[in-house]
Amino acid sequence: MIEELKVLSGFDKSGHKEGFDEIVFKPGETISIVGPTGSGKTAFITDIELLAQGDTISRRRVLLNGAPPPPSIRYNPALKPIAMITQNTKCFADLSVQEFLEIHARARGISSSQVVGKTIDLANMFTGEKIYNDLRVTILSGGQTRALMIADAIFIGGAPIILLDEIENAGIFKQEVINIIQDTGKIIIFVTHDPVIALHTQKRIIMENGAVKKVLLQNELEAFATQNLIEIDRRIGLIREELRSGSIITRELIGLKFAQEV
Ligand SMILES: Nc1ncnc2c1ncn2[C@@H]1O[C@H](COP(=O)(O)OP(=O)(O)O)[C@@H](O)[C@H]1O
Ligand SMILES: [Mg+2]
Repeated sequence: MIEELKVLSGFDKSGHKEGFDEIVFKPGETISIVGPTGSGKTAFITDIELLAQGDTISRRRVLLNGAPPPPSIRYNPALKPIAMITQNTKCFADLSVQEFLEIHARARGISSSQVVGKTIDLANMFTGEKIYNDLRVTILSGGQTRALMIADAIFIGGAPIILLDEIENAGIFKQEVINIIQDTGKIIIFVTHDPVIALHTQKRIIMENGAVKKVLLQNELEAFATQNLIEIDRRIGLIREELRSGSIITRELIGLKFAQEV
């Protein structure tokens, strides 16, 4: 059981100590990591993935439940409580989506017959390109693969800590999806450029020059603004799909209120 994940500060790219002592993450928490390209976002979550002990470029240390994890947990992928999904995540098995999930569920000792369907439904909430049960996992697009891997990590994989590195580009994150994630009691960290995801998370870490520059907690105004942004985002998603399928824009589609103002 993970009760707490803690990152102890390291050093920035210029060798200066980071301006925090420790950052604590609790189960059920959603966190975003933002900052310009090259600012150290991937390095930060990779430190978590590796359960770094002062032995990575940043010299950060990561504690699980207050203590350094034993080597058996650090080096045994089956015991590691962390799933990381990146732009490069791929499935190599020559199986259908359904078979792939069934085998994984069986390996995890999950007997629920609904879990496969639930996982595919969730994956379809992450991506606009529909994933069907009988598609081969090897022919899924990058966006579909990442969507499936995230849903699999949430419903089937046991990892209580999920790290997502800029996976939003090809997919669509919706409010329900983040809500589902929040309800799983996992620690979910998004490296993201998407303002909706960044504002939707409870904690926001800002990176600069390889170091954590700030840790912000979502405030009330941001929580409120997020609801509007989600609606705008949803509308843009709908318009994108309509344009792709050759539709012309209607008043309803762009939102009547907006249309009247034009
Ligand atoms: N604290 C640090 N000290 C030294 N080098 C770092 C540090 N953090 C990141 N780097 C290096 O800087 C480069 C960019 O970091 P990266 O994490 O890939 O940035 P981002 O994901 O924000 O684009 C990488 O080569 C990485 O190894
Ligand atoms: Mg990166």
